[in-house]
Amino acid sequence: MSNAPLRILGIETSCDETSAAIVEGGRTILSNAIASQIDLHAKYGGVFPEMASRMHVEAIYPIVTAAMSEAHVGWGDIDAIAVTRGPGLVGSLLVGLNAAKGIAIGRGLPLVGVNHLEGHVYSLWLVEDAPEVAFPVIVLIVSGGHTELLLMTGHGQYQSLGRTLDDAAGEAFDKVGRLLGLPFPGGPSIEKAAQDGDPTAYAFPRAWLDQTWDFSFSGVKTAVLKEVKKQWPGMKAGVDAVPPGLPVPNLAASFQAAVIDVLAEKTAQAAAQLNATEVFIAGGVSANIPLRTELARRAKVPVRYPPLVLCTDNAAMIATAGHYRYLAGQRDGLEIDVKPNWKLT
Ligand code: KG4
Ligand code: ZN
Repeated sequence: MSNAPLRILGIETSCDETSAAIVEGGRTILSNAIASQIDLHAKYGGVFPEMASRMHVEAIYPIVTAAMSEAHVGWGDIDAIAVTRGPGLVGSLLVGLNAAKGIAIGRGLPLVGVNHLEGHVYSLWLVEDAPEVAFPVIVLIVSGGHTELLLMTGHGQYQSLGRTLDDAAGEAFDKVGRLLGLPFPGGPSIEKAAQDGDPTAYAFPRAWLDQTWDFSFSGVKTAVLKEVKKQWPGMKAGVDAVPPGLPVPNLAASFQAAVIDVLAEKTAQAAAQLNATEVFIAGGVSANIPLRTELARRAKVPVRYPPLVLCTDNAAMIATAGHYRYLAGQRDGLEIDVKPNWKLT
């Protein structure tokens, strides 16, 4: 056995990004190749599952090859393959898992199945120059498919505190973005439009769900819809062009403020009550700068968030999660299947 740091090939295909990455020692990204299908799905205003799996089939081989060549490594330098098993779109997940199995057989490498949400958590281990993690930490995962508040007490050890009862935060951003006629995905579009708006223009509701750490975002989404209908009678979301008079920046800023208020407050309170040393925020919505700022303002402990490119789906985070799973002794057989509804806890 050599003492060289572990090198893990990560593969991620759970939604609309085909990605392969090589991570060394669980911290250093040697490559992180990503083929995004966003432009394609933008035409439909959301991810089109059948199209997504077809695109993954086309992209997977070139992406793995790109990750290997960008990292300047050969197969002999790789110690294991970490691959997303779920949660995600079944057809998309199958492409990544089957590719990983093929490589595992062909190159005689161990296979490690990874939960996509754990991947998002481990994107926080890829923050450059960050101090070692001292558990317990509070983790807020906010993505297009999930909104979950976790207490992480050690590597691979999570206690779920609460989650969304209806829409995920990113999903609400995407739906409201569509309603306001903004380009897909709605999250970055709303953040941009909100820069020119007044966050206090509309008092959209906040679902506090007191005595729980759960979230709900369908109420605020419906409140935006009602306001838009009031100002624009006869509208059909996603079909009509938005009329010039609609105050999109104010609507976007007020919606964003309502979502951030609840996310930041509940996360900050959980950190205080559970004596967390740090707050981690991960997933696509963690790219949102006002959310980061508000969380940092309210939390009494440091807030750690991933570099922007690692907020949305990528294989470097899967490789890093796989690194810790591999260290813990996890080895999966070729019989493993995808788990489209896999929960982290
Ligand atoms: O983690 P991710 O890439 O995919 C899932 O696992 O779901 O997250 C994608 C989600 C989308 O809903 C997108 O609108 C949202 O993240 N998002 C943002 C921002 N960037 C991406 N939401 C708010 N502000 C952003 N800047
Ligand atoms: Zn994700």
